Amino acid sequence: MALPSVLDRDIVNPRIYAVQQDYHALFSQLRREDPVRWTKPDGYEPFWTVSKYADIVEIERQNTLFINEPRLNMRPREAAAVLAARLGQQKPIRMIVDMDEPDHRKYRALTQSWFLPSNLKQIDETIKEITKEYVDRLGELGGACDFVRDVAVWFPLRVIMLLLGVPREDGLLLLRLTQQTFGAEDPDVAEQADFKAARAQAFAEFVDYFNVLLAKRRREPRDDLASLIANAQIDGKPIPDREALSYYIVIATAGHDTTSATAAGGLLALIENPQEMVKLRADPALLPRAIEEMIRWVTPVKHFGRTAVQDYVLRGRQIKAGQSLMLCYPSANRDEDVFENPFDFRVDREPNKQLAFGIGVHQCLGLHLARQELRAFFAEFLSRVDDVRLAGEPAHVAGTFIAGLKRLPIQYRMK
Ligand code: HEM
Repeated sequence: MALPSVLDRDIVNPRIYAVQQDYHALFSQLRREDPVRWTKPDGYEPFWTVSKYADIVEIERQNTLFINEPRLNMRPREAAAVLAARLGQQKPIRMIVDMDEPDHRKYRALTQSWFLPSNLKQIDETIKEITKEYVDRLGELGGACDFVRDVAVWFPLRVIMLLLGVPREDGLLLLRLTQQTFGAEDPDVAEQADFKAARAQAFAEFVDYFNVLLAKRRREPRDDLASLIANAQIDGKPIPDREALSYYIVIATAGHDTTSATAAGGLLALIENPQEMVKLRADPALLPRAIEEMIRWVTPVKHFGRTAVQDYVLRGRQIKAGQSLMLCYPSANRDEDVFENPFDFRVDREPNKQLAFGIGVHQCLGLHLARQELRAFFAEFLSRVDDVRLAGEPAHVAGTFIAGLKRLPIQYRMK
């Protein structure tokens, strides 16, 4: 029997994404009963909702049949039209995640080896110092804090600042700019007129900030990622300003909310599953697996889109050329065909082929860095902080793209 069309509204309703049980109830039903669903919410161009792990892998692996342009996210028609009108002929930013072949391969190749573990080793000590600083901060806060506001938003931001080589006193400015420009579409804030104006203003400031950085790194290159990008060559010519700037922006944004959301959501999972916290404390060698499980559990990127360039049959459904697909990563990461007891949080889960970083040519460029940061943080946290409990109600951002906790009040004791 066909599922009711009211589900289509839920699939794009940010508030569903703010309540984990509601999200997972909806997507469990879709996986069981309509895994490749033609979805027609009011106010949206229709698209296919893809909720099974194997189907997302099948699509992402065929990146010339399913492309990223022109619809990387499922947005309401109105928002998409406003954006298109505002952007005019040329988009002000063009990030690697927006690109298809042949450009994607060329631009990605510029930094691919920089993001490999062998190179990231050189910043390991500094990352450890940064995480130590934020665990020290927990000590200064005297046993109670909002873990999101006081810690989780900060240390991934500091790591990004390290990558780009920008001074630490710019931290507050950058936090405000990333949050206002790319903050989630939480209806509590995003629909307010002053928020929209602030967002446009923040975007302009962001572009100015990175333009200054770009010019500086061209004038006086240093040994950092920002200099590597600023002075890169594409097809034997200097990288265009727009693409260089967009590279800074994608690193600053893709590497921030995602990692913060995983740290906060991972801590909440440990608090809610005390036996797992005990297991992990008793055997620190489990940490890499525990981090993998936190990433699966949280899956901060809720979807990306692809568009079919030719007709294709997926799980018996006829996809037509030009139609878009919404790839629902958190649903894939609870797929019963892939994960044993997917709704159990297990710090020793093995195997764990979580799909939170995507797969194929666009697979997260920063995945090793994200793991490195999270391992460093939790190693420090677990060795110095004890008796961690909830001190109030946690709250999730309402957003269909990148979303996680917006509040996590905790109390704890320093060892
Ligand atoms: C737990 C943390 C993170 C998660 C869950 C995550 C997730 C993702 C996902 C789902 C994609 C798209 C993959 C696809 O289309 O197949 C992506 C792409 C990307 N991520 Fe991450 N990410 C994280 C952290 C980071 C960090 C720390 C950085 C860098 C500082 C980063 C940089 C990027 C970039 C540049 C892309 C675009 C890659 C491309 O299009 O080729 N991410 N990420």
